[in-house]
Amino acid sequence: MKRMLLTLLLTPLFAAAAFAHDPRIEAKVDDLLARMNLAEKVGQLNQLNGGYATGTQDGRRIDLEESVRSGIIGSFLNIVDLDYQKSLQKIAVEESRLGIPLLYAHDVIHGYRTIFPIPLAEAASWDLEAIERSARIAAIEASASGLHWTFAPMVDIARDPRWGRVMEGAGEDTYLGSRIAEARVHGFQGDDLSRSDTIIACAKHFAGYGAAEGGRDYNTVDVSERVMREVYLPPFHAAVNAGVATLMNAFNVLDRMPASGNKFLVKQVLKGEWNFQGFVVSDWNSFGEMVIHGVAEDNREAAKLAIAAGSDMDMESKAYFDYLGELVSKGEIPEEWVDDAVRRVLRVKYELGMFDDPYKYIDPARKEKVTLSDEHLQAAREVARESIVLLKNEGGLLPLKKNIEKIAVIGQLADSKKFEDMMGSWPAQGKNEEVVTPLEGVKAKVSTQTVVTYEPGCRDHGVCPPELIDRAALAAAEADCVILVVGENGDMSGESKSRAHIGLPGDQLDLVKAVVKAGKPVVMVLMTGRPLVLDWCAEHVPAIVNAWQLGTMGGHAIADVLFGDYNPSGKLPISFPAAVGQIPVYYNHLNTGRPRPPQDVPYVSKYIDCPNEPLYPFGYGLSYTTYEYSAPRLNAETININHTLTVSVDVKNTGSVMGDEVVQLYIRDLVGSVAQPVKELRGFDKIHLNPGESKTVEFTLDSGDLAFWTEDMKFQPEPGEFEVFVGTSSSDCKKARFTLE
Ligand code: BGC
Repeated sequence: MKRMLLTLLLTPLFAAAAFAHDPRIEAKVDDLLARMNLAEKVGQLNQLNGGYATGTQDGRRIDLEESVRSGIIGSFLNIVDLDYQKSLQKIAVEESRLGIPLLYAHDVIHGYRTIFPIPLAEAASWDLEAIERSARIAAIEASASGLHWTFAPMVDIARDPRWGRVMEGAGEDTYLGSRIAEARVHGFQGDDLSRSDTIIACAKHFAGYGAAEGGRDYNTVDVSERVMREVYLPPFHAAVNAGVATLMNAFNVLDRMPASGNKFLVKQVLKGEWNFQGFVVSDWNSFGEMVIHGVAEDNREAAKLAIAAGSDMDMESKAYFDYLGELVSKGEIPEEWVDDAVRRVLRVKYELGMFDDPYKYIDPARKEKVTLSDEHLQAAREVARESIVLLKNEGGLLPLKKNIEKIAVIGQLADSKKFEDMMGSWPAQGKNEEVVTPLEGVKAKVSTQTVVTYEPGCRDHGVCPPELIDRAALAAAEADCVILVVGENGDMSGESKSRAHIGLPGDQLDLVKAVVKAGKPVVMVLMTGRPLVLDWCAEHVPAIVNAWQLGTMGGHAIADVLFGDYNPSGKLPISFPAAVGQIPVYYNHLNTGRPRPPQDVPYVSKYIDCPNEPLYPFGYGLSYTTYEYSAPRLNAETININHTLTVSVDVKNTGSVMGDEVVQLYIRDLVGSVAQPVKELRGFDKIHLNPGESKTVEFTLDSGDLAFWTEDMKFQPEPGEFEVFVGTSSSDCKKARFTLE
């Protein structure tokens, strides 16, 4: 047992990042702040909805133009009409006393008009460059449409696929989620906010939102500080260190205090320990919901709790709008709190260059030029095919030949241009009529002699009348091969779309059974915003391709994979449970005192009616080729805290087609002052290999990679034995051992 903790703390790695402010901007902020009256200061902290509502509304009517004129609103969300943006901005700049420009925000989650795969799908690509490019393109299109600010990335770790918002994040793993958070922040913000094609990002929802009990949206969160710091907070920290300009409060409570009024989260961790210099916006009415949570008597008290916690801007609750000024003037809160919040908002407005040219984002010519450009569509297709995960391919059924005589494409989702079925939740300004469906993708791909028939089999939301199933089964029987597209409609995941039953929705399993029974080779394409329980299908359908919701170019991307123009390389960023009763099921769990041994014995941690393991684990995904891994080689058997460890592995493409493989590295600390996960991702590399080609992949681990929150809550490594695993998924690795002295 190792008790002796290393004395050297990991200060250089984990100290609050030093943020250098531009002194010229600071001087301008100081000057402007000194000229503002209290109402104008509070105004900068008010954000109102100016377009379609993305939350509940109190029905109160506020004269927006008059409010802008009097300087009591600083930001709007959901105004996407260029003329309206311009007219309000003109009032702000020319008619309000101090001429402070308005900040326009919108949920640009996975593309603006060119829609990319849902974020969970993109995470399956494990391609950080492609993910950054996707955010960059979203920013280019959004910024040309008058927007300064996106409420993305959502960096909530999610281990419960019942939660509808798993689609919006990067899945279950903290390490992968942190790297993706950085990539998305860099993509949206670029390296210079004053450029007219960069927008500010917003890491959300701070924090713990993904841990909602029962996977029910907005529900209670109760996790220990250790788990919070180890699992849920690091992606936010990564986003802060990547320079994210804003964060958004979460809706949930943490330790019984709603996140918006949670001093531990905002004041202590974010603005204290991490030295965050940007600003924090509430979620939609999350200040007001503190009343409903039962920690504030009314909106006045909610405003006081929020500002005391360090939450800077109020989205839509109007608690600051109505009461913040009064709280200051009655001496209930110090004006410095408000000044600090306003300073943060003004700094961002200066950094964006809005005072130099408040209209530079409202640019119809640029909008026309960049929106849905060939380059953007091509990038969307590339990341879409990289996001596809091949789950099963019995007998090498895939890839299909392009000259098959007759293919039956079956499924309502195979040709749907409604419910955002191809785009998924948060489609921003994407248009259903602009998407390429799987049927269109297949037709564009196959030889001119191939006959492609189509039967929906079901109506929307898995309603499958017997006559439609019969027609689909007949079409299957008459074809040489079937492409069966099933899953969730686009409106079945996302915010407020939790599901308790996460099998194929409706009667679609009946359709699958009838089609399989027709006896022809069946490839099942799954379209979904979350992992589904696929029990019967996983057993009886020979090939399963998980295509998530892939966006505008989804149909082409699917056809690229089905017909072998792209060899699938996606790996699951979240486990697919074998049964709902296993949830939460995730790869980096603790060992328990009674882990299940291979043989079936009683009194161990198991189900009597289901395995412990998920159906498809984190990091899993097949390819049309095969890879052979050497055992990992270490440059030393023993290292100390000042050393790094180099882990090398040879990976060979032993099949006959080229492919991209995600090489994954995990570690396990065998004995700690607190129990440690059985495996934790600490590195990955996506490599390209031609048939027969072999490459050596090298990973470097430093003490930061071995650190955890110790018994006395210090983030540091402890000496002792470690295992290191390298392989093709979290459940298929080769291992080696080393000692940290
Ligand atoms: C969501 C946020 C979103 C906001 C604005 C809320 O309901 O939780 O993620 O950014 O609405 O649309």
